[in-house]
This record gives sequence, C-alpha cells and structure tokens, in this order.
Amino acid sequence: MVRLERLFPDHRGALYAKLESLNPGGSMKDRAAIGMILGAIGSGQLVPGRSTVVESSSGNLGIGLAQVCRWFDLRFICVIDPKTTAQNIAILTAYGAELDTVTRPDNAIGDYLSARIARVRELVTTIPDAYWPNQYANLLNARAQEAVMREIAEALDGRVDYLFVATGSCGTIHGCKRYVAEHGLSTHVVAVDAEGSAIFGSVPCRRLIPGHGAAIRSGLYFEGIADSVVRVTDQDCVVGCRRLVGTEAILGGGSTGAIISAVSQRRAELPEDATCALVLPDRGERYLDTIYSDEWVFEKFGDIRYLWKEQAAC
Ligand SMILES: Cc1ncc(COP(=O)(O)O)c(C=O)c1O
Repeated sequence: MVRLERLFPDHRGALYAKLESLNPGGSMKDRAAIGMILGAIGSGQLVPGRSTVVESSSGNLGIGLAQVCRWFDLRFICVIDPKTTAQNIAILTAYGAELDTVTRPDNAIGDYLSARIARVRELVTTIPDAYWPNQYANLLNARAQEAVMREIAEALDGRVDYLFVATGSCGTIHGCKRYVAEHGLSTHVVAVDAEGSAIFGSVPCRRLIPGHGAAIRSGLYFEGIADSVVRVTDQDCVVGCRRLVGTEAILGGGSTGAIISAVSQRRAELPEDATCALVLPDRGERYLDTIYSDEWVFEKFGDIRYLWKEQAAC
C-alpha cells in the first residue's frame, strides 16, 4: 500500500492506494484468473495438458488467464472484439493464447459483450474438454478477490473507513464486501462504476474506457453489494489518471482514473479523519495510445490535459 499525500494536498484524512498492477500479469484480474483455474483443476473440470479454457475478455482477465493457462499447459482461446487493443492482442499472443474475434456488435452503442458470450457458448459446446470459467457467474472470481480486502485490512490494522472499488464483473467488490461483512469491519464500500453501465441501473451508452462498467449486470452482483455508488464519465477517468501521474508519479489505467475521480467527487463529504483505501486495478502502459495520448484525448474531449490542475485550484 502506498500513502497518497500529494494527490489532494489539502486533504485531511488518509488516502492509501492498493497497487494491483503489482500482480504478475499486471492487474487485479490475475487473482480471479488463478482462483477460477485452480478451482476447476481441483474439481477435475480442467486437466492440465489436455483441456481447453475458453473465456470472453478484451483485456486484463484474458491476460491473467493466458498466463495461468501457459503455466498449467492448458490451451486457451480468448474471445475478443474489434475494440481489443493491439497491445493486448500482442500480450495475449506472447503468452500463447489463441484469439477468436467477434465482429458484430450487440447494439447501436457498440457493445460486444453478448456477442462474445454467445461465441464462448458455441466454442465450449463444440470443442472436446472445453471449460468456460465464466467470470460473470463464477463465485471463485469473487472468492479470489477477498484477499484484496484482507491485505488492505491487515496493512491498516483493520481501520479502513472507506473502500473505493471499480466494478465490472463485480468479482472484486463482491469479494471485498464479503470480507468486510464476515470480519465485522465498519468499512463503507463505495462502488465506482461507469456512466452508461448497466450494473447499478443507469441507461446504457457508448463507453470508451475499458475495465470498469458493463453492458449487463453480473451474476455476482447482489443487493447491498455497495454502500454507495459513484458514476464517472470517460473524461473523468482521463482527468483522474492525469492527476495521479501529475501529483504522485503513478501511471494508472483507466479505472484507476475512475477511482481517483470518484474520490475527488466524494472527499468533501468524508469525515476529516477518515482512512480511505483505493483499489487501483492496473497500470497505465496499456493505455498509452488513449488516456496518455494528447492527440487521442484532444480528439475525444478537447484540451483537458490540465483540467486536473484547474480543478485543484478551485
Ligand atoms: C482495469 C479494470 N478495472 C476494473 C475492473 C472491474 O473488476 P471486476 O471485474 O472485479 O468487477 C476490471 C475487470 O476486468 C479491469 O480490468
């Protein structure tokens, strides 16, 4: 955990970052990948050296699975879509994953999730010994993420007043919330979701930044999974990322910017002595052509490169 002292210089409480980019594949989804694969090997659903894993992912889970599958000598087919970045395709390929691309979006706003899942279903029924981890319904995804909250609670001696977590499959927030409940912690869990994501019921709209937000509500969602919700726009993510690297020299991914922006929106309401833990899901190298490209940012939002500085001055 890293204490963030420069992010908001006038902030009275304590802000700590849990850098999930330090996991071996570079994101918090490594935990879900290893948890689901070890579970399936343990139950006999997967046999190293023989079975095939098929999963839909355009990014971090795919990379985590590609790594684990290589280790256990499992064939891995990753179902991706045209939005998957060239860099992620190169990483997946380097780990030996096979790529299967869906090309027809589900709807006019350009989501591919349903199309990708339909393709996964097709592949698992036609390939012998194929297994679909199904991150959107697999409790082992959430179980694996309980360790995130355990590590945070241990590092802060159990005193975590607020936890900010980004939501997609809801594995991380599910695991964290469960740990909080089972250990009698008084932590208020803040879900950070994308504007236009279906998870907490907003009207779906086109989203540019991958990671947090989903076009469908995950099976791992449950009523009360979050004590409160902050929704952030794509622009908020960019501003949050730029603030984090500009103040703390931490190059975060898109949902990390979402978390920073959510804290910025919420912090005036927090008690002065509150201790907040921010789960930062991945690092910024996978976003150099978007969030950290001045040309891309200008094209999508105009000149907002220094908006974080102007906001700080207000
Ligand atoms: C960068 C990033 N942030 C946030 C999330 C959401 O995490 P979860 O699926 O555990 O809800 C993901 C999921 O893939 C992710 O890759």
